[in-house]
Amino acid sequence: MAVGIDLKDVSKTYETSKSTPILALTNTDLTLRPGEFFSLVGPSGCGKSTLLNMIAGLLPTSTGDIHIGSDKIVKPQRSTGIVFQHATLLRWLTVLENVLLPSKIAGTLDSKTRALAEQYLELVGLGHTKHRYPPELSGGMQQRAAIVRSLVSNPGVLLMDEPFSALDEFTRETLQDELMRLWTDQPKTVVFVTHNIAEAVYLSDRVGIMSARPGKLEAVVDIPLDRPRLPELRSQSHFYEIVGDIRRQIDPGNSK
Ligand SMILES: Nc1ncnc2c1ncn2[C@@H]1O[C@H](COP(=O)(O)OP(=O)(O)O)[C@@H](O)[C@H]1O
Ligand SMILES: [Mg+2]
Repeated sequence: MAVGIDLKDVSKTYETSKSTPILALTNTDLTLRPGEFFSLVGPSGCGKSTLLNMIAGLLPTSTGDIHIGSDKIVKPQRSTGIVFQHATLLRWLTVLENVLLPSKIAGTLDSKTRALAEQYLELVGLGHTKHRYPPELSGGMQQRAAIVRSLVSNPGVLLMDEPFSALDEFTRETLQDELMRLWTDQPKTVVFVTHNIAEAVYLSDRVGIMSARPGKLEAVVDIPLDRPRLPELRSQSHFYEIVGDIRRQIDPGNSK
């Protein structure tokens, strides 16, 4: 079931032994509604991963609280799925075994989970690879498998840190469409980190714009595009106008 996410006065300072502490994220308030697709965009070093890792419970906050539903986040949650930039598949397990591993560890692996895993692998074009090993697959195929792995346990929250940025443009767009399809099939609250503005606009209900030094959530913008969003949207002028508006907000000196 999709659940909301609530950040109150959340900041992060990294204490370093050598230099002065680094303020990676200034005090942030943000409320995401259950089932929302929310993206964070901004330049390298603006605190996107820091924010995502705190929501994931992988990194403690310096100030403030994060709640997912009614749970205060102090450690990783079983009901939160995470996808990183590079697929973290185990190379000695098959694609299907990788996808089923979290459920196996959690003790929730049953025939329904297996059926869903196979269905999703088919849906993203990996049905024929389920008994193959990750090193035999392209980067795009491995990332598809990592996304399926994050979804089969039906997490209420899905956190994705630049999941498509290591992929070529064509694969990236295909995976954006596959992610949309899976998210529609199984509604969940998504926080999606990217530095690709068009990607954020295409996918999201709202986009959070961040700036660096110190990392700050500058603005949250509604994306006024109907769903379902289909590939032809990418070449339509109203789509480009929204992308341009956000680009100008990130860099006011950039008029196009
Ligand atoms: N473990 C860490 N220790 C010290 N500084 C860090 C650490 N992780 C990130 N930072 C710093 O915090 C800032 C934000 O980093 P990060 O969240 O990775 O940004 P982004 O994901 O937007 O590129 C950067 O200045 C980065 O150098
Ligand atoms: Mg990052």
